[in-house]
Amino acid sequence: MSTTTDFTLAIEGLTVSFDGFKAVDDLNLYIDKNELHVVIGPNGAGKTTVLDLICGKTKATSGSIKFLNVELTKKPEHEIVRAGVGRKFQTPSIYENLTVLENLEVSYPEGRGIFGSLLFKRTPKVMEKIHEIANEIMLDDALDMPAGLLSHGQKQWLEIGMLLIQDPQLLMLDEPVAGMSVKEREQTAVLLNKISQGRSVLVIEHDMEFVERIAHKVTVLHQGKILAAGDMHKVQHDPKVVEVYLGH
Ligand SMILES: Nc1ncnc2c1ncn2[C@@H]1O[C@H](COP(=O)(O)OP(=O)(O)OP(=O)(O)O)[C@@H](O)[C@H]1O
Ligand SMILES: [Mg+2]
Repeated sequence: MSTTTDFTLAIEGLTVSFDGFKAVDDLNLYIDKNELHVVIGPNGAGKTTVLDLICGKTKATSGSIKFLNVELTKKPEHEIVRAGVGRKFQTPSIYENLTVLENLEVSYPEGRGIFGSLLFKRTPKVMEKIHEIANEIMLDDALDMPAGLLSHGQKQWLEIGMLLIQDPQLLMLDEPVAGMSVKEREQTAVLLNKISQGRSVLVIEHDMEFVERIAHKVTVLHQGKILAAGDMHKVQHDPKVVEVYLGH
């Protein structure tokens, strides 16, 4: 099949079974450019598995994942990253002993690989990009600080910055505000709203107050299937969603 689409991400009939158990079951999900899409649902619903499938960590049993009209389901993880898909895991994978600046520097696309790092120069272009990202993630005053000294929330922002510096067209975040203070949650909402401009963002989150602040569209997963989808208001008032998720 070679149908084309205007969506950044178009998932159709996506299914994965683990020993006969369907963790994701015939899922359809579409995300536009500039859209911030949130997936919610009870524990074990299959939310993280959807991200694993998109980034190639888990292979689909059947179905299609088209990113900018390119089929991802058969591609290895590194090719999916290179195609422009960035993913943040729940525990930040930053280099604690490096400064904030150095963390951003090693994440710069041309700073990668053995030759890349040996020949890498802090050119004005690189430094400009690092400062732009540091400003966006609210760490411009902490550039020379070892990343290990940052607060939990700041570490999460740094990891987001390390993804942003690669300019992904799709950014995926799994429970980005878990463990954050109220103030940090508010700042993260502003940050995510900003970074959804010009790309697509897919967020998994349990904090409904936060979801309400950021979501353009919401998909509710339950037992690997879509229970409801639409804007926050519609989803929040869906009796099925209240019964299996929000009511608890
Ligand atoms: N690689 C795997 N092998 C076997 N089973 C798996 C694998 N990955 C996930 N599962 C199972 O699939 C189901 C969905 O898990 P998943 O982590 O996607 O849920 P989730 O919606 O992210 O839940 P939570 O809100 O707790 O993070 C669970 O029953 C889980 O045990
Ligand atoms: Mg999960």
